[in-house]
Amino acid sequence: MTERKKRVGILISGRGSNMESLIAATRRSDYPAEIACVISNRPEARGLSTAAAQGIATQAIDHKRFQTREAFESELDAALRAHGVEIVACAGFMRMMTSSFVDQWRDRMLNIHPSLLPAYKGLHTHARALADGVKLAGCTVHVVRPELDQGPIIAQAAVPVLDGDSEETLGARVLQAEHSLYPHALSLFASGDAIVSGERVLLKKEPVNQTIPLYWPPLSQL
Ligand code: GRF
Repeated sequence: MTERKKRVGILISGRGSNMESLIAATRRSDYPAEIACVISNRPEARGLSTAAAQGIATQAIDHKRFQTREAFESELDAALRAHGVEIVACAGFMRMMTSSFVDQWRDRMLNIHPSLLPAYKGLHTHARALADGVKLAGCTVHVVRPELDQGPIIAQAAVPVLDGDSEETLGARVLQAEHSLYPHALSLFASGDAIVSGERVLLKKEPVNQTIPLYWPPLSQL
């Protein structure tokens, strides 16, 4: 018997390109999750109209309407529950959350961050990576904890940093990786193939014959 698909609520604040990659992935009949709703704290978020055009239930909950963070989160929480959401996927959701909201969704809320965490938490990750001269950058999907950009890591993707990179070119390379990584990580999580164990995520079936290191510059050019 096929397992029932997990209902996912996506939280956005803007463009929504990661949201689009999740929507596209969930259209596959064998994908273990479906999108129950897309909610934005910014009514003007471009992603809201993109999702609506694809027949997804959308809702704007403008944080500016609320006196306190708690009041905003209580409406957000009610909306997620009304849509029967089981997993929350933050995708460019630019709003700090209280620890009580995060705890209500403990081990059921994911986030994507454009760096190889725990390096470069916070904003301007690509500019900071370029300033440091790192050779590999990347992105991370993790389970949300109250601390900013922290929590058990489900999956990461690494991309090379090129000598001529600007914040924009590096950001575009990382974003392209994000669009494959998030659907992959959500699939692992929703299917139960990736399980939170304390502050780590363990894979039910860990691939053992694919442990090839990524070198940059490539070994062949040394
Ligand atoms: C992405 O880079 C994501 O990692 C970060 O915010 C950006 C959102 O982009 N959290 P989009 O709205 O998914 O296009």
